[in-house]
This record gives sequence, structure tokens and C-alpha cells, in this order.
Amino acid sequence: MAAPDLVVALTGASGAAYGVRLVEVLLRAGRPVHLTVSPAAVEVLATELDREVKLPEGEFDPAALLGPAAGGLPLHDLHYHHYRNFRAGIASGSFLTGGMAVCPCSMGTLAAVAHGLSENLIHRAADVHLKERRKLVLVPRETPLGLAQLRNMAAVAEAGAVVLPAMPGFYTRPKTLADMIDFVVGRVCDQLGVEHRLFERWGPGGGVLPATTPFTPAGKESTIPECGGISVRPARQRIVV
Ligand SMILES: Cc1cc2nc3c(=O)[nH]c(=O)nc-3n(C[C@H](O)[C@H](O)[C@H](O)COP(=O)(O)O)c2cc1C
Repeated sequence: MAAPDLVVALTGASGAAYGVRLVEVLLRAGRPVHLTVSPAAVEVLATELDREVKLPEGEFDPAALLGPAAGGLPLHDLHYHHYRNFRAGIASGSFLTGGMAVCPCSMGTLAAVAHGLSENLIHRAADVHLKERRKLVLVPRETPLGLAQLRNMAAVAEAGAVVLPAMPGFYTRPKTLADMIDFVVGRVCDQLGVEHRLFERWGPGGGVLPATTPFTPAGKESTIPECGGISVRPARQRIVV
């Protein structure tokens, strides 16, 4: 049986590079990806990565999101859904998936998921994953955390979600920003059951395993080169939602 489809939602938290890299890695791993993007994520993508993404289904361009990586990816496996399209398969529990990641996850989306608001397709798909007892991974970036945010994290954890903060480890001795992004993305892949070799693991006897350890074929090369040199936009872009 083919590996099940996965759902990825990009929301308006800082850390757009995590979400972009996650989509890229999942496609490279041969997994069909159902993608939805919030309007706030569009703003963050423009601010942090200079990516100009248009949300209407007829105007969404994978290359605008994925950048230079798009050329080498199986884009036929990328299924984009507008954040207001409640007719999308991922809005229904009868559409089978292998899990969902909200990466990055804003505090607003966290709150909506914690309280079952279902105001957009992202909230609804997350609700579906919780009610169907499927894997839901939320990747917040926020710091510090307020009491409401901590309580919302506890609520989603009690409901069955995995709260996976975008906190790169340092025991792998990351040398680049791409290494740190891949650490977080790799930990999301671990939760979704997607094999990868995005970082070197801690071995059974202590210490990091050598780089030759065969983890999997997902591809280590980062294709988000510009994330190492974040530029500040001089003027606000027009956002099409
Ligand atoms: C550049 C930028 C960075 C932001 N970073 C964060 C963040 O790290 N965490 C957060 O919760 N909200 C952040 N926000 C605010 C959210 O985008 C805002 O609360 C929005 O309503 C979230 O909507 P969404 O959950 O539908 O994406 C940021 C906004 C911008 C423009």
C-alpha cells in the first residue's frame, strides 16, 4: 500500500523557513502533501524569505513558495487547498491521511485548535486529526509564553496533539541556519513517521552517531539558501488572499 497523504499547514508565526523546508522534504520523501496556507503566513513568508505567495487556488504557484527547490520536486504530489475551502478532502474525517503538521503554528491557530473553533480549513483539518485520533503536530515558535498560550498547549496535548516547539538542539553542533532548520524539520518528520537523514542522531551508547549512519533517502542539501541571509523588506507587499 502507498504511504498515506500528509497535511501541512503554514500559519503566521515566525519561522516560515521551517514550513517551506518541511513541504520540500516530504515531497522528496515521496509523500503526497496537502498544503494550506493562512493569510498571515503569506505576510511572514514575504517578510522572512522574500517569497510572494498568492492564495487563490487558480493563482497559487508552488515555485513561489518553494523557491529554487521547486524545479527538482515531484510537484504532482503537492495538493494545494485555499484556507477557506471547506470542501477540500482534508476537511473530512473520511479522507484518510497519515497525519498533519502545522508548521510554524501561530498562537492564534493554537488557540483555535485548542478550542475547536474551525474558522478556517487549517483549524478544521486539525480538528479532524484530533477527532480521528490521527497524529497532529503543532510547531510553535513563540517566546516567552503567556499563561493562555501555555494552557492552550496543555489543552491540545490533552486532546492528543504533539506540541513540538521550534527549538533546535545543539548537541549535533549545527554549523549553519539550515542545520538548525533541518533539526526541527527532522523532528517533525520523526513524528509523522517519515524517514530522513536531516540530522545526526544520538547513538545508543551516548554521543552523536557518525554521518555515515544510513537513516534514509530524504536529502540533506538545504534548498533555502537565502534563509541564511534574511533581508528586511523596504516596503509592505500587496497580499492576495
Ligand atoms: C512577521 C510576522 C511575524 C509573526 N510572528 C508570530 C509568531 O512568532 N507567533 C505568533 O503567534 N504570531 C506571530 N505573528 C502574528 C500572527 O501572524 C497573527 O496573530 C495572525 O493573526 C495569525 O493568524 P493565523 O493563525 O491564521 O496564521 C507574526 C506576524 C508577522 C507579520
